[in-house]
Amino acid sequence: MYDWFINLFLKHKIMSTTNVNIVLFGKGNVGSTLINQIIDLQKKENNKTNLTIIAIANSTKALINFNGIEGNWEQDFNQFSENYQPEKLISEIVASGLENLVAVDVTASQEILNYYDLLIKSGFHLVAANKKANANTLDFYQNLRKKLNKHNKQFFYETNVGAGLPIIEPIKNLVAAGEKITKINGVFSGTLSYVFNRFATQNISFSEIVTQAKRNGLTEPNPIEDLEGTDVARKLLILAREIGVEKELQDVQVNAFLPKDITESDLPSLDADFHNLKLTQKEGHVLKYIGELDVEKNTLSIGLQAVDKNSPIGQLSGADNIIQIFSENYNQNPIVIQGAGAGKEVTARGVLGDIIRLANSLTNLKNKEKSVFYEEKIA
Ligand SMILES: NC(=O)c1ccc[n+]([C@@H]2O[C@H](COP(=O)([O-])OP(=O)(O)OC[C@H]3O[C@@H](n4cnc5c(N)ncnc54)[C@H](OP(=O)(O)O)[C@@H]3O)[C@@H](O)[C@H]2O)c1
Repeated sequence: MYDWFINLFLKHKIMSTTNVNIVLFGKGNVGSTLINQIIDLQKKENNKTNLTIIAIANSTKALINFNGIEGNWEQDFNQFSENYQPEKLISEIVASGLENLVAVDVTASQEILNYYDLLIKSGFHLVAANKKANANTLDFYQNLRKKLNKHNKQFFYETNVGAGLPIIEPIKNLVAAGEKITKINGVFSGTLSYVFNRFATQNISFSEIVTQAKRNGLTEPNPIEDLEGTDVARKLLILAREIGVEKELQDVQVNAFLPKDITESDLPSLDADFHNLKLTQKEGHVLKYIGELDVEKNTLSIGLQAVDKNSPIGQLSGADNIIQIFSENYNQNPIVIQGAGAGKEVTARGVLGDIIRLANSLTNLKNKEKSVFYEEKIA
């Protein structure tokens, strides 16, 4: 009778999901959407997760609630948040004794990287939409991984490239399975995708397309930042490092298509040149802003390229991203991943996917430990 009870109790325990306690850094477009997605998911009847948001911070304020931040969080944040001091926030959370902590970085901040080390040492796993850590110096990148290993902590960052599209995880899986990746190329920026997809197919000036992209919320406040390609360079570098290519951001060859030091108001003066560029392309070819990692040549480059308009990249439309992965076994027909590569909803959903992946791995770990205990008990 006693054995039967123990069996039932332990089996039930082995199946239960781990509660993950989330600290959210950033409550902008992606952060706010993520909070709402988490709260909605917890209310769903078929929900299999157990996620609690215990703190939310922006660059100046932070709100903590160890019982869980829920529905009226925006009002609570305005009313009850205190001055944001990262060390204080982290130490208060550690003092609470809560386990399974995850720090979710949905900022675009460089400064927050100064706290990754402290977070890991304090027991946090990491999830980031912020690309700055993985596109930082190689030294930082490698040290971060050493610290994660040392403290047995995990780091998920699927949304660093292609927003919610699954790109990093499939590449990790290919690498882990011993597949030799030879080349990755594609269109990695929703903004540049939109701009050049319209430029290729519509009779409208380049500057007007950029203005409309900005009006539709598809660009940074200063669209020149998108057109310069730094964000694309970061994404390409992150993918390169994923397959073991040890490069720095400066190693990405940027084939600029804009004159140096240009401002947004200068763009109309370039319309005639852009129009000529379009007219002088080879028959059946269109211009796309492409990032390419050539593993064999050991090069990373980004810039405008003329491609066959019937190729997968040539047919791209809207603000979609497309990523082609070539490898020893996918050499003629690459793996092609395509879809919306920007937007707060898809990005937040991708970050939530990362949090759930972390929760599942913690559950598996816990179950493994329990199953050893269970086997010992019934042996
Ligand atoms: N939007 C997309 O489609 C997309 C796609 C893929 C990846 N991402 C990445 O997701 C991240 C967030 O994007 P977003 O569009 O949500 O940006 P956003 O609207 O500008 O929001 C950024 C948030 O981070 C906060 N913040 C800044 N520095 C901070 C710090 N040191 N500590 C805590 N919070 C800080 C800001 O607070 P304040 O308001 O006080 O400044 C704000 O709440 C970025 O790294 C972006 O590259 C975005």
